[in-house]
Amino acid sequence: MRFSKRAAVAAAGIAVALVASGCGSSGGSSSGGGAKTKDVEVFTWWADGGEKAGLDGLVAQFKTDCSQYTFVNGAVAGGAGSNAKQVLASRLQQGDPPDTFQAHAGAELSDYINAGQVEDLSSEYKDWGLTTAFPKGLVDSLTVQGKIYSVPANIHRANVLWGNKKVLTTAGITAAPTSMTEFFTQLDTLKTKGIASPLALGKDWTQEMLFESVLISELGSDKFIGLWNGKTDWAGSDITSAINDYKKLLTYTNKDRDTFDWTDAEKLVMDGKAAYQLMGDWEAADLDTKGFKDYNYVAFPGNGTAYQWLADSFVLPKGAKNPDGTKCWLKTLGSSAGQKAFNTKKGSIPARTDAVASDYPAYQQTAIADWAKDTAVPSCPHGSACSQGWQGAVNSAQGKFSSDGNVDSLQKALTAAAKQFATK
Ligand code: GAL
Repeated sequence: MRFSKRAAVAAAGIAVALVASGCGSSGGSSSGGGAKTKDVEVFTWWADGGEKAGLDGLVAQFKTDCSQYTFVNGAVAGGAGSNAKQVLASRLQQGDPPDTFQAHAGAELSDYINAGQVEDLSSEYKDWGLTTAFPKGLVDSLTVQGKIYSVPANIHRANVLWGNKKVLTTAGITAAPTSMTEFFTQLDTLKTKGIASPLALGKDWTQEMLFESVLISELGSDKFIGLWNGKTDWAGSDITSAINDYKKLLTYTNKDRDTFDWTDAEKLVMDGKAAYQLMGDWEAADLDTKGFKDYNYVAFPGNGTAYQWLADSFVLPKGAKNPDGTKCWLKTLGSSAGQKAFNTKKGSIPARTDAVASDYPAYQQTAIADWAKDTAVPSCPHGSACSQGWQGAVNSAQGKFSSDGNVDSLQKALTAAAKQFATK
């Protein structure tokens, strides 16, 4: 969904003219002379499976709390926003924002703030009692120059290894791997037992997730955090050794990985064609929604108590057609009831600190306990660690490495990306 600059400028002109004349596509601007729109277009990439189940839960709460408004689903399918973010960028450029959109807390959200595309919600935070409802570290990642711009829906964990219990026990594997060495031994065992590609993997951003888990094992939490704030050198020998481990891991993965979204890789696990997949905990919700019960989960081998976090948050875009409707959405999202309705179905844990663990499925109960005691480390593909520009550079470097396996060139590309983006 790319537009040429010229076409985008022309389209933006048309959009501005339409809004000015009160002829916007959703029934007119709320501040214009025409009838106010009731529609609240919510833009996400939660189109199927557990992701849609989570969204549906939240929408049910919105229908109760905001019955004067109508939810309009603007979801664009594709894991981690691989398609949605491009569509959103075009729409923002054309002056046609949805009423609200999903943005990851941290550096990714700062992209929209710095571009002046989202409104300050500081006074709504006070009115809705949100200022103290979320953990301080999370609020800090949503705040720029003293102003707060989005409401977090959840905390997800990225560095989780999901396993097919039957495949593992059939291969005689009964304990979770706790180090990279143990993991390689298990993968070899699985291969000798006839599972040709025991580790299921998808395309670029999923590869970056796997690589980041290896980095956490190699570097530990503090040094891993330093990769994103300029304190850890991407050119170091410990990074070279992590890339070599990651390269070895790729030999256990499905060869068609570059054409796979995360759900395609997940299906290999469900079908017993693979034993393991590294994926965020939206996988718990997706497996549950698909009725697959025979799975287990553990932090990626060697990650110890590093909780690689990310948070989906929602914003009020500048120029939204129905800002009052958006505020009702955001208030619901930030409420105890909204967070429960969403997170019990989404695999994530609530961002609010007043959640009752026993309200949640078994996986989230363990996640709530871990989040309270583990060390928070960020994720680049899910925006808590790096900007969208940095994500793009990393994704293309991973895609290239997936076909050429050139360790030196991956390390150089990652080092160059950090140099270009780390301080921005
Ligand atoms: C993440 C997002 C999650 C989940 C995942 C897979 O970026 O934060 O909520 O949707 O992508 O699509």
